[in-house]
Amino acid sequence: TRHLLGIKDLNVADLQLIFETADNFKSVLNRPIKKVPSLRDVTIANIFFENSTRTRLSFELAEKRLSADVVNFAASSSSVSKGETLIDTVNNILAMKVDMVVMRHPYAGAGVFLSKHVKAQIVNAGDGAHEHPTQALLDAFSIREQYGDVAGKKVVIVGDILHSRVALSNILCLKMLGAEVMVCGPTTLIPKYIKELGVIVEHDLRKALNWCDVANMLRIQLERQDIKYFPSIREYTMLYGLTKPILDSLDKKITIMHPGPINRGVEISSDVADGEHSIILDQVENGVAIRMAVLFLLAGQTG
Ligand code: CP
Repeated sequence: TRHLLGIKDLNVADLQLIFETADNFKSVLNRPIKKVPSLRDVTIANIFFENSTRTRLSFELAEKRLSADVVNFAASSSSVSKGETLIDTVNNILAMKVDMVVMRHPYAGAGVFLSKHVKAQIVNAGDGAHEHPTQALLDAFSIREQYGDVAGKKVVIVGDILHSRVALSNILCLKMLGAEVMVCGPTTLIPKYIKELGVIVEHDLRKALNWCDVANMLRIQLERQDIKYFPSIREYTMLYGLTKPILDSLDKKITIMHPGPINRGVEISSDVADGEHSIILDQVENGVAIRMAVLFLLAGQTG
């Protein structure tokens, strides 16, 4: 594939190739000299129409470790505020001889739309509540690193499934790799169509945690909710917040993940987020190797 717009564009062989390439880049990143010349003479624009810490910085670091030339664009400080359209904005950036565009956008489908209207390779860094493919790749890579394989593992995604691009991309990626996937949360935050993706739905957090090997805790995406939120944040924390006493009461040890940003004390307590079963910062570390792999493999698909 020429672009990376969503997990649904990939097959199992693509996922394995991305993971094996990321294995190699991860060992490079652990060397004193972390930089490789693979993308010399490739120019990449990171265009972010929505806030980001991890995704923006890890794409930029991945590009720099690959020796690409990098330009960064934040919509808030650009001429978008003067009325310039997305296509005009990107075509102006491309006129400066840019090869690849990494884009985050608040609207679902923005990456697909752009890929049809401009002559550049597009990498989706999160489009509204639709997909966040590199997050799902780094999450699956982190599970593979913990257990040796993703196939057969039981993964529960807890929280605001309705508004989450991380949930959709994770479900597609994990199912393709042969994991069993459950979603857990209040009925108001679990869309009806989710069962069509072959996932189990559970509303009881303790039952979900006792079932799983891995729990991926999501935050409540208040920025995507235009209705009055139900349950309230306080009720959500009482019913779905993961705390140390809950973790200690389980029949087995489970791995704790979170894509970030964390709302400490809401969906997860600090002692769990920072505890011995948490791989949250390993996920962030793996994000650089995964994004290096994606950019490197896409650069070989320019036709
Ligand atoms: N996980 C994630 O996408 O974080 P950012 O929004 O900070 O990039």
